This record gives sequence, C-alpha cells and structure tokens, in this order.
Amino acid sequence: MMEEARKRLIFALDVDSFEKAQEWVELLHQQVGLFKVGKQLFTRCGPRVVEMIRERGADVFLDLKYHDIPNTVAKAGVEACRLGVGMFNVHALGGLEMMQKTVEEVDAWCQQHNQPRPIMLAVTILTSSTEETLRGVGIDRPVAEMVPRLAELTKLAGFDGVVASPKEVALIRAACGDDFAIVTPGVRPSFAAMDDQKRVTTPAEAIAAGASHLVVGRPISAAADPAAAARLILEEIAGALNLK
Ligand code: C5P
Repeated sequence: MMEEARKRLIFALDVDSFEKAQEWVELLHQQVGLFKVGKQLFTRCGPRVVEMIRERGADVFLDLKYHDIPNTVAKAGVEACRLGVGMFNVHALGGLEMMQKTVEEVDAWCQQHNQPRPIMLAVTILTSSTEETLRGVGIDRPVAEMVPRLAELTKLAGFDGVVASPKEVALIRAACGDDFAIVTPGVRPSFAAMDDQKRVTTPAEAIAAGASHLVVGRPISAAADPAAAARLILEEIAGALNLK
C-alpha cells in the first residue's frame, strides 16, 4: 500500500538551481513517486534536470503547460517522451484538435520506440483565474461550468486526466468517470502551514474526493524534517486508499 501511495505523491521542485533540485531528489526519492519540474527550473536548467531525476530512479512530471498550434504542441509532447518523463501537461483551452494531434503523435512515437506513454494531462481553468478573468478574455461562462466542460474535452481527445483544485475533484470525477487521472495541488496536511494557498484540503480528503495524484511542495520543503513530512503524507494517502 505504501508503494501505491508513493506513486501518487508528486513533489513540486520549485527551486531555481540544478544543485538545489539535486539535493531534494537525493533526500526524497524514496518517498516521492514523481518530481514536478516547472517553467522556472526547466528554463534555468533544461533537460539535464530531468535526466538527473531519472538517473535517481524517480519519475518526472514536466509541468510546462503547452498551449500552441496543434503541430507545435504535438512535437513538444514527443520531445517530452524522448526525455523520458512520466507525466506532462497542456492547456485544454488549446482545444480538441491540439490535444488529439498530441495524442496521435505521442502514441506513434511511443509505439515506435517501445516506450510506455507518459500520463498526459490538461489544465482546465487555472485556479488563479476568476470569472472576471474569464470575462476579460471573452469567456462568458462560470468557472464551475468551464472546468467539467474542458475536462470532458480532455477525455474525448484521449488524454489521461487533468490538473485541478481539490475543490473541483468531485465535479470532474462525476463528469469524466473513474478511469481518469485527477492531479491536485493546494493540498495541506494538518501539520503544515497554509502559505498562500487559500482553498485547501488535506491529502486524505483529496484522495477520498477522487484525486489520483497529489502535488505537494512547501508542506514537505518547509518542514523541519522533509523526509519525515513526506512519510506522514504517504501514510495519510495510504490510509485514504484503504478506505475505498
Ligand atoms: O508549495 P505548494 O504545496 O503550495 O506547491 C504547490 C505546487 O503546485 C506549486 O508548484 C504550484 O505552482 C502548483 N500549483 C498550485 N495551484 C494550482 C496549480 C499549480 O499550487 N492551482
């Protein structure tokens, strides 16, 4: 059960240097299934940070949220596969054709290279966006309508799941069924500070609501003993999985 829990715990490598990333990977690779590499770290360090994580035996969630014309996103997806990442994402607002083309080219490349396909996710509406933000770009629909709509589009395109706030998980689960990954940040175990996260749930609540993976940063990185904090979170995930 702990191994099952480990596969679901993603640590946000929100650091600005290769050396700091390496220290975290050394410290946490036994507790954490995937390390999330985002725009800051990837822009600073490039593919070598992905290679370093993979050499340590851990997987990478490449969080670059591609959003471009279908051909460009599909080609970027293929490069993510070549890097050997376990998970990557795009913006669902890029549309059905963009996502379908990405699935098509990634599938073809993975088959040709006999490599497992990474978990392909889409972001629906960024949790930093409000209804006002959407109106400003000409989208006149409520967030609560847009999120399940874009999640359904993601599934229709053949993607594996979405990134979502814990508060949206139940809605997405209802719209997209059980066979769909839902990766949630904004998770705060009871022992951790809230930081700048406003709407949070505990790891157990997020799993019970239907999240498949949790992205956790500061509750681990700011803890006095980060490896112990990660273990506590794993226990909480394992406990919640047992309930199912
Ligand atoms: O430190 P913390 O646990 O808040 O880190 C959460 C990670 O998830 C960060 O990398 C943050 O950028 C990301 N994230 C988030 N909320 C979203 C989307 C992504 O906190 N809605």
